[in-house]
Amino acid sequence: MAYAARKDDHVRLAVAQQREFTDTRHACQFDDIEFVHHALRGTAERVVSLNTNIAGMTWRTPLYVNAMTGGSARTGEINRALAIAAGETGLAIASGSMSAYLADPAVAETYRVLRSENPDGYVIANVNANATPDMAARAVELLAADALQVHVNAVQETVMPEGDRDFTAWPGNIARMTEALGIPVIVKEVGFGISADTVTQLADLGVRHIDVSGTGGTNFARIENARRHGDDFDLLGEWGLSTPACLVEASEPARLRGVTLLASGGIRNPLDVVRSLALGAGAAGVSGHFLAILETGGVDALIATITTWIARIRHLMMLLGAATVADLAHTDVLLTGRLAEVCRLRGVD
Ligand code: FNR
Repeated sequence: MAYAARKDDHVRLAVAQQREFTDTRHACQFDDIEFVHHALRGTAERVVSLNTNIAGMTWRTPLYVNAMTGGSARTGEINRALAIAAGETGLAIASGSMSAYLADPAVAETYRVLRSENPDGYVIANVNANATPDMAARAVELLAADALQVHVNAVQETVMPEGDRDFTAWPGNIARMTEALGIPVIVKEVGFGISADTVTQLADLGVRHIDVSGTGGTNFARIENARRHGDDFDLLGEWGLSTPACLVEASEPARLRGVTLLASGGIRNPLDVVRSLALGAGAAGVSGHFLAILETGGVDALIATITTWIARIRHLMMLLGAATVADLAHTDVLLTGRLAEVCRLRGVD
Protein backbone atom coordinates (compact mmCIF):
# COMPACT_ATOMS: atom_id res chain seq x y z
CA MET A 1 0.00 0.00 0.00
CA ALA A 2 2.86 2.38 0.84
CA TYR A 3 4.30 1.67 -2.61
CA ALA A 4 0.97 2.17 -4.37
CA ALA A 5 0.34 5.56 -2.74
CA ARG A 6 3.85 6.75 -3.52
CA LYS A 7 3.58 5.69 -7.18
CA ASP A 8 0.28 7.54 -7.56
CA ASP A 9 1.80 10.64 -5.89
CA HIS A 10 4.75 10.58 -8.29
CA VAL A 11 2.48 10.52 -11.33
CA ARG A 12 0.24 13.31 -10.01
CA LEU A 13 3.16 15.55 -9.04
CA ALA A 14 5.16 14.86 -12.22
CA VAL A 15 2.16 15.79 -14.38
CA ALA A 16 1.66 18.98 -12.32
CA GLN A 17 5.33 19.82 -12.90
CA GLN A 18 4.88 19.43 -16.68
CA ARG A 19 1.84 21.77 -16.57
CA GLU A 20 3.99 24.31 -14.74
CA PHE A 21 6.64 23.96 -17.48
CA THR A 22 4.04 24.69 -20.16
CA ASP A 23 2.61 27.66 -18.26
CA THR A 24 6.03 29.22 -17.71
CA ARG A 25 7.42 28.33 -21.18
CA HIS A 26 10.05 26.34 -19.31
CA ALA A 27 13.59 26.99 -20.55
CA CYS A 28 16.44 24.55 -20.06
CA GLN A 29 20.00 24.11 -21.21
CA PHE A 30 18.87 22.40 -24.42
CA ASP A 31 18.10 25.98 -25.53
CA ASP A 32 21.83 26.68 -25.20
CA ILE A 33 22.62 24.24 -28.05
CA GLU A 34 22.43 25.86 -31.50
CA PHE A 35 23.13 24.16 -34.81
CA VAL A 36 25.18 26.26 -37.22
CA HIS A 37 23.11 26.50 -40.39
CA HIS A 38 24.91 25.42 -43.57
CA ALA A 39 22.60 26.28 -46.47
CA LEU A 40 23.95 23.68 -48.92
CA ARG A 41 24.59 20.72 -46.63
CA GLY A 42 21.15 19.13 -46.59
CA THR A 43 20.57 15.58 -47.78
CA ALA A 44 17.53 13.71 -49.15
CA GLU A 45 14.83 12.51 -46.78
CA ARG A 46 14.82 9.09 -48.46
CA VAL A 47 18.44 8.37 -47.46
CA VAL A 48 17.96 9.25 -43.80
CA SER A 49 18.05 6.20 -41.53
CA LEU A 50 16.94 6.50 -37.91
CA ASN A 51 18.42 3.13 -36.95
CA THR A 52 20.61 3.14 -33.86
CA ASN A 53 22.47 0.32 -32.13
CA ILE A 54 21.60 0.27 -28.46
CA ALA A 55 22.16 -2.33 -25.79
CA GLY A 56 22.49 -5.33 -28.03
CA MET A 57 19.94 -4.48 -30.69
CA THR A 58 19.13 -2.15 -33.55
CA TRP A 59 16.32 0.25 -32.63
CA ARG A 60 14.34 1.66 -35.55
CA THR A 61 14.18 5.06 -33.87
CA PRO A 62 16.64 6.84 -31.55
CA LEU A 63 13.83 7.59 -29.09
CA TYR A 64 12.36 5.62 -26.17
CA VAL A 65 9.74 5.85 -23.47
CA ASN A 66 11.80 6.06 -20.30
CA ALA A 67 11.15 4.56 -16.87
CA MET A 68 8.12 5.72 -14.97
CA THR A 69 5.73 3.55 -13.14
CA GLY A 70 3.81 0.44 -12.03
CA GLY A 71 2.81 -0.98 -8.64
CA SER A 72 -0.75 0.35 -8.25
CA ALA A 73 -4.02 -0.11 -10.14
CA ARG A 74 -3.84 3.37 -11.64
CA THR A 75 -0.19 3.11 -12.68
CA GLY A 76 -0.89 -0.32 -14.19
CA GLU A 77 -3.38 1.39 -16.51
CA ILE A 78 -0.77 4.03 -17.36
CA ASN A 79 1.72 1.27 -18.17
CA ARG A 80 -0.86 -0.40 -20.39
CA ALA A 81 -1.36 2.81 -22.39
CA LEU A 82 2.39 3.52 -22.59
CA ALA A 83 2.98 -0.03 -23.85
CA ILE A 84 0.30 0.32 -26.52
CA ALA A 85 1.85 3.62 -27.68
CA ALA A 86 5.36 2.12 -27.72
CA GLY A 87 4.10 -0.93 -29.65
CA GLU A 88 2.22 1.17 -32.23
CA THR A 89 5.19 3.45 -32.87
CA GLY A 90 8.02 0.92 -32.54
CA LEU A 91 9.70 2.64 -29.60
CA ALA A 92 11.63 0.87 -26.86
CA ILE A 93 10.03 1.24 -23.44
CA ALA A 94 11.35 1.00 -19.88
CA SER A 95 9.36 -0.04 -16.84
CA GLY A 96 9.23 2.02 -13.67
CA SER A 97 11.10 0.68 -10.67
CA MET A 98 9.98 -2.88 -9.99
CA SER A 99 10.67 -2.76 -6.22
CA ALA A 100 6.93 -2.97 -5.56
CA TYR A 101 6.74 -6.26 -7.50
CA LEU A 102 9.85 -7.65 -5.81
CA ALA A 103 8.24 -6.89 -2.42
CA ASP A 104 4.78 -8.14 -3.38
CA PRO A 105 4.20 -10.32 -6.49
CA ALA A 106 0.47 -9.50 -6.29
CA VAL A 107 1.16 -6.32 -8.32
CA ALA A 108 2.91 -8.25 -11.13
CA GLU A 109 0.19 -7.47 -13.68
CA THR A 110 0.72 -3.69 -13.35
CA TYR A 111 4.19 -4.25 -14.87
CA ARG A 112 3.55 -7.31 -17.04
CA VAL A 113 1.28 -5.22 -19.31
CA LEU A 114 4.46 -3.64 -20.71
CA ARG A 115 5.16 -6.97 -22.39
CA SER A 116 1.65 -8.36 -22.90
CA GLU A 117 0.50 -5.17 -24.72
CA ASN A 118 3.77 -4.96 -26.66
CA PRO A 119 4.87 -8.54 -27.34
CA ASP A 120 7.44 -7.77 -30.05
CA GLY A 121 8.85 -4.57 -28.58
CA TYR A 122 12.14 -3.78 -26.87
CA VAL A 123 11.22 -3.81 -23.18
CA ILE A 124 13.53 -2.76 -20.35
CA ALA A 125 13.07 -3.84 -16.72
CA ASN A 126 14.05 -1.42 -13.93
CA VAL A 127 15.40 -1.98 -10.41
CA ASN A 128 17.20 0.17 -7.85
CA ALA A 129 20.87 -0.15 -6.98
CA ASN A 130 20.11 -2.08 -3.78
CA ALA A 131 18.93 -5.06 -5.83
CA THR A 132 20.77 -8.37 -5.87
CA PRO A 133 21.40 -10.28 -9.11
CA ASP A 134 18.59 -12.63 -8.09
CA MET A 135 16.09 -9.77 -7.67
CA ALA A 136 17.19 -8.25 -10.98
CA ALA A 137 16.72 -11.63 -12.70
CA ARG A 138 13.15 -11.88 -11.32
CA ALA A 139 12.32 -8.41 -12.66
CA VAL A 140 13.79 -9.28 -16.08
CA GLU A 141 11.92 -12.58 -16.17
CA LEU A 142 8.53 -11.00 -15.45
CA LEU A 143 8.81 -8.77 -18.52
CA ALA A 144 10.87 -11.13 -20.69
CA ALA A 145 12.99 -7.98 -20.81
CA ASP A 146 15.64 -7.27 -23.44
CA ALA A 147 17.71 -5.13 -21.05
CA LEU A 148 17.77 -4.00 -17.43
CA GLN A 149 17.95 -0.45 -16.14
CA VAL A 150 19.48 0.08 -12.70
CA HIS A 151 18.57 3.50 -11.37
CA VAL A 152 20.84 5.52 -9.11
CA ASN A 153 18.80 8.18 -7.32
CA ALA A 154 20.76 9.40 -4.30
CA VAL A 155 19.28 12.92 -4.45
CA GLN A 156 15.71 11.59 -4.51
CA GLU A 157 16.42 9.17 -1.63
CA THR A 158 17.93 12.00 0.41
CA VAL A 159 14.80 14.13 0.11
CA MET A 160 12.41 11.20 0.70
CA PRO A 161 11.55 10.86 4.40
CA GLU A 162 11.50 7.06 3.95
CA GLY A 163 14.56 7.13 1.64
CA ASP A 164 17.85 5.22 1.85
CA ARG A 165 20.46 6.59 4.19
CA ASP A 166 23.44 4.57 2.97
CA PHE A 167 24.60 4.42 -0.67
CA THR A 168 27.90 2.61 -0.12
CA ALA A 169 26.72 -0.76 -1.43
CA TRP A 170 25.59 0.59 -4.82
CA PRO A 171 28.85 0.25 -6.84
CA GLY A 172 29.30 -3.39 -5.76
CA ASN A 173 25.65 -4.20 -6.44
CA ILE A 174 25.87 -2.66 -9.92
CA ALA A 175 29.01 -4.69 -10.72
CA ARG A 176 27.35 -7.92 -9.53
CA MET A 177 24.16 -7.34 -11.56
CA THR A 178 26.14 -6.39 -14.68
CA GLU A 179 28.26 -9.50 -14.40
CA ALA A 180 25.45 -11.93 -13.59
CA LEU A 181 22.56 -11.01 -15.85
CA GLY A 182 23.55 -11.99 -19.37
CA ILE A 183 21.57 -9.11 -20.92
CA PRO A 184 22.65 -5.46 -21.31
CA VAL A 185 22.54 -3.38 -18.13
CA ILE A 186 21.86 0.34 -18.45
CA VAL A 187 22.70 2.43 -15.39
CA LYS A 188 20.56 5.56 -15.24
CA GLU A 189 20.04 8.60 -13.07
CA VAL A 190 16.52 9.86 -12.48
CA GLY A 191 17.04 13.52 -13.37
CA PHE A 192 20.22 14.74 -11.63
CA GLY A 193 22.81 13.70 -14.21
CA ILE A 194 25.86 11.47 -14.60
CA SER A 195 29.26 13.18 -14.58
CA ALA A 196 32.33 12.20 -16.61
CA ASP A 197 33.87 10.79 -13.42
CA THR A 198 30.80 8.61 -12.84
CA VAL A 199 30.99 7.31 -16.42
CA THR A 200 34.59 6.25 -15.79
CA GLN A 201 33.63 4.69 -12.44
CA LEU A 202 30.76 2.77 -14.05
CA ALA A 203 32.98 1.61 -16.92
CA ASP A 204 35.39 0.23 -14.30
CA LEU A 205 32.43 -1.68 -12.82
CA GLY A 206 31.77 -3.28 -16.21
CA VAL A 207 28.84 -1.08 -17.31
CA ARG A 208 28.60 -0.37 -21.05
CA HIS A 209 25.32 1.57 -21.29
CA ILE A 210 24.59 4.75 -19.33
CA ASP A 211 21.53 6.99 -19.43
CA VAL A 212 22.74 10.36 -18.10
CA SER A 213 19.22 11.55 -17.18
CA GLY A 214 20.18 15.06 -16.14
CA THR A 215 18.39 18.17 -14.92
CA GLY A 216 16.06 20.24 -17.07
CA GLY A 217 12.88 18.18 -16.86
CA THR A 218 11.18 16.13 -14.14
CA ASN A 219 12.70 17.14 -10.81
CA PHE A 220 12.42 14.51 -8.08
CA ALA A 221 13.94 16.76 -5.41
CA ARG A 222 10.88 18.99 -5.82
CA ILE A 223 8.46 16.09 -6.19
CA GLU A 224 9.69 14.41 -3.01
CA ASN A 225 9.70 17.73 -1.19
CA ALA A 226 6.06 18.21 -2.13
CA ARG A 227 5.32 14.80 -0.56
CA ARG A 228 6.77 15.89 2.80
CA HIS A 229 4.18 17.43 5.04
CA GLY A 230 5.24 20.42 7.10
CA ASP A 231 8.90 19.35 7.17
CA ASP A 232 10.41 20.99 4.10
CA PHE A 233 13.66 19.74 2.54
CA ASP A 234 13.83 22.32 -0.22
CA LEU A 235 17.62 22.64 -0.48
CA LEU A 236 18.18 20.47 -3.55
CA GLY A 237 15.76 21.96 -6.10
CA GLU A 238 18.63 23.24 -8.27
CA TRP A 239 20.99 20.29 -7.65
CA GLY A 240 22.52 18.31 -10.49
CA LEU A 241 24.09 18.47 -13.93
CA SER A 242 21.97 19.30 -16.95
CA THR A 243 21.48 16.63 -19.62
CA PRO A 244 23.44 18.60 -22.28
CA ALA A 245 26.28 19.29 -19.80
CA CYS A 246 26.48 15.56 -18.98
CA LEU A 247 26.68 14.67 -22.66
CA VAL A 248 29.39 17.25 -23.34
CA GLU A 249 31.59 16.16 -20.45
CA ALA A 250 30.91 12.43 -20.61
CA SER A 251 31.07 11.73 -24.34
CA GLU A 252 34.88 11.55 -24.51
CA PRO A 253 35.37 9.17 -21.54
CA ALA A 254 32.41 7.15 -22.83
CA ARG A 255 33.96 6.82 -26.29
CA LEU A 256 37.34 5.85 -24.84
CA ARG A 257 35.76 3.16 -22.64
CA GLY A 258 33.33 1.76 -25.23
CA VAL A 259 30.29 3.06 -23.33
CA THR A 260 27.08 4.01 -25.15
CA LEU A 261 25.41 7.11 -23.72
CA LEU A 262 21.67 7.61 -23.69
CA ALA A 263 20.13 11.03 -23.10
CA SER A 264 17.15 11.78 -20.92
CA GLY A 265 16.00 14.55 -18.62
CA GLY A 266 14.16 17.54 -20.06
CA ILE A 267 13.64 16.34 -23.63
CA ARG A 268 10.71 18.55 -24.74
CA ASN A 269 10.59 18.16 -28.53
CA PRO A 270 12.24 16.48 -31.55
CA LEU A 271 14.88 19.24 -31.74
CA ASP A 272 16.06 18.31 -28.23
CA VAL A 273 16.32 14.68 -29.42
CA VAL A 274 18.50 15.69 -32.38
CA ARG A 275 20.59 18.00 -30.16
CA SER A 276 21.21 15.05 -27.80
CA LEU A 277 22.28 12.81 -30.67
CA ALA A 278 24.63 15.54 -31.96
CA LEU A 279 26.26 15.67 -28.51
CA GLY A 280 26.98 11.94 -28.67
CA ALA A 281 23.92 10.11 -27.34
CA GLY A 282 22.79 6.97 -29.15
CA ALA A 283 19.12 7.64 -28.34
CA ALA A 284 16.98 9.98 -26.25
CA GLY A 285 14.40 9.01 -23.62
CA VAL A 286 11.28 10.86 -22.56
CA SER A 287 9.23 10.42 -19.38
CA GLY A 288 7.42 13.46 -17.98
CA HIS A 289 6.43 15.06 -21.27
CA PHE A 290 4.91 11.84 -22.65
CA LEU A 291 3.13 11.16 -19.36
CA ALA A 292 1.50 14.60 -19.44
CA ILE A 293 0.31 14.05 -23.03
CA LEU A 294 -1.14 10.68 -22.05
CA GLU A 295 -2.90 12.14 -19.02
CA THR A 296 -4.36 15.02 -21.02
CA GLY A 297 -5.20 13.45 -24.37
CA GLY A 298 -5.11 9.68 -23.85
CA VAL A 299 -3.22 7.03 -25.78
CA ASP A 300 -4.25 8.30 -29.23
CA ALA A 301 -2.74 11.71 -28.48
CA LEU A 302 0.49 10.06 -27.34
CA ILE A 303 0.68 7.90 -30.48
CA ALA A 304 0.07 10.97 -32.66
CA THR A 305 2.77 12.95 -30.84
CA ILE A 306 5.37 10.18 -31.11
CA THR A 307 4.56 9.70 -34.80
CA THR A 308 5.06 13.42 -35.45
CA TRP A 309 8.31 13.42 -33.46
CA ILE A 310 9.71 10.56 -35.57
CA ALA A 311 8.88 12.45 -38.77
CA ARG A 312 10.43 15.66 -37.40
CA ILE A 313 13.64 13.89 -36.31
CA ARG A 314 13.96 12.64 -39.89
CA HIS A 315 13.35 16.15 -41.28
CA LEU A 316 15.92 17.73 -38.97
CA MET A 317 18.51 15.10 -39.96
CA MET A 318 17.75 15.82 -43.63
CA LEU A 319 18.28 19.54 -43.03
CA LEU A 320 21.55 18.88 -41.17
CA GLY A 321 22.85 16.55 -43.90
CA ALA A 322 22.97 13.59 -41.53
CA ALA A 323 22.02 10.31 -43.23
CA THR A 324 22.66 8.37 -40.01
CA VAL A 325 22.49 9.02 -36.29
CA ALA A 326 26.29 8.72 -36.18
CA ASP A 327 26.58 11.48 -38.83
CA LEU A 328 24.96 13.91 -36.39
CA ALA A 329 28.15 13.83 -34.32
CA HIS A 330 29.84 15.70 -37.21
CA THR A 331 27.39 18.63 -37.28
CA ASP A 332 28.51 22.08 -36.12
CA VAL A 333 26.98 23.08 -32.81
CA LEU A 334 27.41 26.20 -30.73
CA LEU A 335 27.12 25.95 -26.96
CA THR A 336 25.89 29.20 -25.49
CA GLY A 337 24.68 30.72 -22.21
CA ARG A 338 24.64 28.75 -18.99
CA LEU A 339 25.61 25.51 -20.76
CA ALA A 340 28.78 27.10 -22.17
CA GLU A 341 29.59 28.46 -18.71
CA VAL A 342 29.17 25.05 -17.06
CA CYS A 343 31.29 23.39 -19.75
CA ARG A 344 34.02 26.01 -19.30
CA LEU A 345 34.03 25.51 -15.53
CA ARG A 346 34.20 21.73 -16.01
CA GLY A 347 37.11 22.13 -18.43
CA VAL A 348 35.31 20.73 -21.49
CA ASP A 349 34.03 22.28 -24.71
C1 FNR B 1 10.26 8.60 -13.21
N1 FNR B 1 11.60 8.19 -13.33
C2 FNR B 1 11.96 6.95 -12.88
N2 FNR B 1 13.19 6.43 -13.19
C3 FNR B 1 13.54 5.19 -12.80
O1 FNR B 1 14.63 4.75 -13.15
N3 FNR B 1 12.68 4.43 -12.05
C4 FNR B 1 11.44 4.88 -11.71
O2 FNR B 1 10.67 4.18 -11.05
C5 FNR B 1 11.06 6.18 -12.11
N4 FNR B 1 9.83 6.68 -11.79
C6 FNR B 1 9.38 7.84 -12.40
C7 FNR B 1 8.05 8.23 -12.26
C8 FNR B 1 7.56 9.33 -12.95
C9 FNR B 1 6.12 9.72 -12.81
C10 FNR B 1 8.43 10.08 -13.78
C11 FNR B 1 7.93 11.27 -14.56
C12 FNR B 1 9.76 9.72 -13.90
C13 FNR B 1 12.62 9.09 -13.91
C14 FNR B 1 12.65 9.07 -15.43
O3 FNR B 1 12.97 7.81 -15.95
C15 FNR B 1 13.65 10.12 -15.96
O4 FNR B 1 14.95 9.75 -15.58
C16 FNR B 1 13.37 11.52 -15.44
O5 FNR B 1 11.98 11.71 -15.28
C17 FNR B 1 13.88 12.61 -16.36
O6 FNR B 1 13.24 12.57 -17.63
P1 FNR B 1 12.03 13.56 -18.05
O7 FNR B 1 10.88 13.23 -17.19
O8 FNR B 1 12.52 14.96 -17.81
O9 FNR B 1 11.78 13.24 -19.49
